[in-house]
Amino acid sequence: MQAFDLQVNRKKFHDYKVVTKETPTAADLADGQILVKVDQFAFTANNITYAAVGEVVGYWKFFPVSADWGIIPVWGFADVIASKNEGITVGERFYGYYPMGSHLIMSPAKVKSTNFMDGIEHRQALPLIYNNYINTKTDPGYSKDGEAIQSLFRPLFTTSFLIDDFMADNDFFGGQNIILTSASSKTAIGLAALLAQRKRESKLNIIGLTSTGNMNFVRGLGYYDSVLSYDQVHQLANDKASVIVDFSGNAQLQENLQSHLGSQLVYNCLVGMVDWTQRGGAKSAATNGKFFFAPSQAVKRNKEWGVAGFQQRIGMAWIKFTSQIGNWMTVKEADGVDELAQLYLPMLEGKMDPKVGHIVQL
Ligand SMILES: NC(=O)c1ccc[n+]([C@@H]2O[C@H](COP(=O)([O-])OP(=O)(O)OC[C@H]3O[C@@H](n4cnc5c(N)ncnc54)[C@H](OP(=O)(O)O)[C@@H]3O)[C@@H](O)[C@H]2O)c1
Repeated sequence: MQAFDLQVNRKKFHDYKVVTKETPTAADLADGQILVKVDQFAFTANNITYAAVGEVVGYWKFFPVSADWGIIPVWGFADVIASKNEGITVGERFYGYYPMGSHLIMSPAKVKSTNFMDGIEHRQALPLIYNNYINTKTDPGYSKDGEAIQSLFRPLFTTSFLIDDFMADNDFFGGQNIILTSASSKTAIGLAALLAQRKRESKLNIIGLTSTGNMNFVRGLGYYDSVLSYDQVHQLANDKASVIVDFSGNAQLQENLQSHLGSQLVYNCLVGMVDWTQRGGAKSAATNGKFFFAPSQAVKRNKEWGVAGFQQRIGMAWIKFTSQIGNWMTVKEADGVDELAQLYLPMLEGKMDPKVGHIVQL
């Protein structure tokens, strides 16, 4: 297989190209480095958001190409095919953050039997969570059969878990109506599933906002108490304190919600930006919003619960949530670089079926 990267024009995301290159070998490694071959990864709107906020948040810096072109990061699995690091052997398989491409040279640091950090220089100023690679050999949660679900949901459901926990930790800021935009997205679904479990102890009313075509799907999930389309915002009850959890990032939707809810809007939590073409412009941005920074809540809970306590809680929630995924989602594999390239534009334009989870197998 010839090595390749899928590169995206950093200013015009519709402009993309598959760039083939000479396949790296052991001869390209410095002492301490490893070469991995990316085997499979998930592709969701989250990866498009990495591009949308790439300049501001720094996502283009993980796998740099040039000032004009970038590689979108993905979550998945890769195999070590050459190693000059005495702690890592050829054949080991790691879960983590990889380029949308076939090969990566890494500089493992802090190597343990469980994981390592990529110590390559250009990544050192970037958030640590993205530099951590987990060894499948020792990961208690790993199974070969569970790889697709892990790639698709591990980063997304961790965020769902942390938002749910952050909200509960703050008594939902006094809100009773919890409104999730892009309600058909996997991260929103994970959150809705967790919120639904809290209904026994609270009077939460979980409302999903979605596009007209996805309403039946979102209703059928059974996690939302009610589901409205984006042009039905005026039908939202605005007689109770309300919280928005925004995965859409659509500026007009924010404006509509803010003016409709008025003083009943007690917290506006900004998480995603799936609708990346509609995020700004002349319309009001999320003036009342607060960006959700998942690592802060994770750090807080790791301190309060301990690392093991945190892992245990998220692990229990994960088992419950993933046991239900088969009821609403099927995994579809794209085979190789050509099928990956065919997926790219529909994913960019939001033309994907929420009932399908896309895995790219290289
Ligand atoms: N801040 C964080 O730490 C964090 C962590 C995880 C995820 N997120 C964010 O959460 C969002 C959801 O990610 P995901 O991977 O869960 O998404 P996903 O499952 O791929 O979401 C698909 C849904 O998003 C909407 N959508 C997708 N592309 C669109 C487009 N181009 N224009 C308009 N709507 C579009 C549609 O929902 P509707 O029809 O329901 O509108 C679609 O069914 C992303 O923005 C992601 O970056 C943030």
